[in-house]
Amino acid sequence: MQQPSASARLMGLVNGYLLSQALYVAATLGIADLLADGPSGVRELASKTGAHEEALYRVLRALAAAGIFHEDASRRFALTELGDCLRSDAAEPVGRWAANIGRPYVWSAAGALLHCVQTGESGFRHVHGTDAWTYRASRPEESVIFDRAMADLSRRAAAGVVAAYSFGAFRRIVDVGGGSGMLLAAILAANPGVQGVLFDQSHVVAAAPTVLAAAGVLDRCEIVGGSFFETVPTGGDAYILKSVLHDWNTEEAGAILRICRAVIPAGAKLLAVEHVIGPPNELPFSKFTDINMLIMLGAQERTEQQFAALFAAGGFTLKKVVPATLGYCIIEAEPS
Ligand SMILES: C[S@@+](CC[C@H](N)C(=O)[O-])C[C@H]1O[C@@H](n2cnc3c(N)ncnc32)[C@H](O)[C@@H]1O
Repeated sequence: MQQPSASARLMGLVNGYLLSQALYVAATLGIADLLADGPSGVRELASKTGAHEEALYRVLRALAAAGIFHEDASRRFALTELGDCLRSDAAEPVGRWAANIGRPYVWSAAGALLHCVQTGESGFRHVHGTDAWTYRASRPEESVIFDRAMADLSRRAAAGVVAAYSFGAFRRIVDVGGGSGMLLAAILAANPGVQGVLFDQSHVVAAAPTVLAAAGVLDRCEIVGGSFFETVPTGGDAYILKSVLHDWNTEEAGAILRICRAVIPAGAKLLAVEHVIGPPNELPFSKFTDINMLIMLGAQERTEQQFAALFAAGGFTLKKVVPATLGYCIIEAEPS
């Protein structure tokens, strides 16, 4: 078959916003879970989700054209290998992230990317007049959707992160900005001799007991609510920051590191679990999550050199970068 022309391929990329929104709709309606036991007709799917049958059909038809579902001749849809990753119980779930990025408040911020590029500022702040954390803190519905998306991203990466590093060498691991505890739960479950401390904003750690109990590690994990701009829990010999530093600009991330440095003793480790930006003209996809950071938070993904400089400013020395999984690396640092 002849390759589509450059113009046709570019048009597909330009229209990518429709694919993201269609995936958001399918994820929000839980279509993949409804197809988990086998194919279903669009009438049944519309009735189970309260959707308009014809409009739902058109969205699912487009997603089937993109390889997410398979459509048969009688408007019945089945999961494909890609669509299977939208299931809430997928091994590497993507559905809750899809259900987060299409939220109207996120979507309208993404529409301000040109403003970001013209000013270097956060598009979110330009559109909503505040930062994303403050915005969500007073909107519990959005906070829950975001925290679940984060938990899924951590569940997606947890096995690979746990396998890539010897967490069993530590006595007490503090997960700073650890969300609802998905990664810490996986680390503790794999390392029965290790104690944990989960630290995040109070409204976020409220969901943690369920996550930690499900992993059978609640009795080995202290849960602490607070702000890492004020203090972090003492007494750890390892401090994890997963997907935290990329949420903040250089000054803010440096401030978080200095707060950590104040309580981290000599000989302990700081472990940032982050994407590391690679050479020009190549994926990883972190070159796009970097744009998400710019829009949502005025923040950024970083190269290894940028991490080294950031750690130095925070009182740490970067020791090594351990590739883990799905583009995540474990960046190990020690107090300088
Ligand atoms: C991108 S999420 C990552 C969560 C978790 N580490 C993970 O990877 O799933 C960043 C986390 O930082 C937390 N956070 C934001 N501001 C905070 C603050 N001032 N103090 C403590 N945690 C904060 C958020 O609540 C959120 O859980």
